[in-house]
Amino acid sequence: ILKEICRKTNIKCYIVGGFIRDFFLGVKNYDIDITIEGNGIEFAKILNKYINGTLKVYDKFKTASITAENYIIDIASARCEYYKYPAALPVVKFSDIKEDIARRDFTINMLAYDVLNDAIIDYYNGLKDLQNKVIRVINDKSFIDDPTRIFRALRYSGRYGFKIDDKTDILIKKAVNGGFIKKLSNDRIINEIFLFLKENKTDLIIESMISYGIQKEIFDNIKLNIKKINSTINNGDIILYRFLLLFYNIDDKGIEYLLNRYNLRRKYIEALKELLLTKNNLCFLKDNCDNIYIYNTFKNIKYEVLMAINISEDVTIKKIINHYINHLSHIKLTVNGNDIRNAGLNPGPVYSIILQKIFNAKVQGKIKNHDEELNLLKL
Ligand code: CTP
Repeated sequence: ILKEICRKTNIKCYIVGGFIRDFFLGVKNYDIDITIEGNGIEFAKILNKYINGTLKVYDKFKTASITAENYIIDIASARCEYYKYPAALPVVKFSDIKEDIARRDFTINMLAYDVLNDAIIDYYNGLKDLQNKVIRVINDKSFIDDPTRIFRALRYSGRYGFKIDDKTDILIKKAVNGGFIKKLSNDRIINEIFLFLKENKTDLIIESMISYGIQKEIFDNIKLNIKKINSTINNGDIILYRFLLLFYNIDDKGIEYLLNRYNLRRKYIEALKELLLTKNNLCFLKDNCDNIYIYNTFKNIKYEVLMAINISEDVTIKKIINHYINHLSHIKLTVNGNDIRNAGLNPGPVYSIILQKIFNAKVQGKIKNHDEELNLLKL
C-alpha cells in the first residue's frame, strides 16, 4: 500500500526507527514510524483511505497517527532538530530523510526502509551494530542535548542484551557526572522509570542505572530493590506491582521525597504508603495467626501491595499472605437479609450483626457452604 501511494503521489516515504531495528532482530513490534519527505498529514489521510483505521491528526506537531488492528502507525514529516540549550525540547525544522536520521539517538535506531526503492538506508552502520549487539551514538553531544537518551541506552541494553559501546559509555558518564540528568524535567525522568518497569529485564536496567550513579541523581538516598522486579502477577496492575517492588525498602522520608519531586498519580503514592504501613504491621500478624485477624489486616490492602510484600524473606509472612490470597480473600456470604427474614426475624440493625457473625464463622473455617450458613442463621 505504501509503495502504491508513493508511486501515485510521488511522495517519498520511509519506515524508520524501532520497527526496522526490531525487524532485523526478529522481534515483533506493533509501532510503525513512518517519515515522509513532504506533508506527513496529507500522506496519513491518503493512507487511511486504504486501511480504514482511526486517524488522529496533530496539527501543532505536523504529525498524524493511525490505529489499525493491533498496529499504531505514526506518520511525521522528515525533520531535523536542534537544541537551544541542554535538555531543552528540540526546535524542529522540516528537512529530508538524511537529516531526519542524523538527529536520532543510536545507530540501531538510525536505520530506515526506503519504500519506493525497496532499500535499507544505513548511513551509520546500524546493521553492523545490530549484529555486534552494540548501543552507539554518533554525536558526542547526544546525551547532553537530550539526557533522556541515557535512560534509553540502558533500556535498550537491558532489553536486547546489547553492550554500550566504549565511547558511548564514556559520554554517558560525562553527562551524568556533569549533572545533565538534573536538567531534565521531573516528568520526563519519572516517565523513563515507568518505561523501565515495562521491560522484561528491569533488574539489569536498574542495576546499570545504579552503576552509572544515576540513582542518586533521581532518587537521592532511597535504596532501590530489584529482587523479583522482573516477575509478573496474574491479576492486577503489573506496573504498580513493579513500582512497589522497586521502592520496597522505602521509608517515610523516601515517600516524602518522591511526593515532593515527582508528579506521581495518587494510586502510586497511596499504594506506597499502604506498603509501608502493612510492612510495619506484619510483626503483629506473626504473633496472631487467627484467620479473622489476618482477614481484617489485609481486607483493604491492594492486591499489588500484598504481592509485593510476598517477596519478603520471612517464611511465616509468605505463608500468611498466600493463605489470605488463596483461602480468605475470596470469601463471600451466600445468605442475605432475605434469608434472615425467611427465618422469621424482623428487619433491623441486628441483620448486619448476624451476617457479620456468619461471615466470621466462614473466615474461621467453621462453616463452608450455603446450607451450613443457613443452619447457623437459624440457630
Ligand atoms: N528518538 C531519539 N531520541 C529520543 C527519543 C526518540 O532519537 N530521545 C528517535 C529514535 O530514533 C527512535 C524513534 O525516535 O527509534 C522513536 O522513538 P520511540 O518510539 O521512543 O522508540 P522506538 O524506537 O519505537 O523504541 P521502543 O518504543 O521500542 O523503545
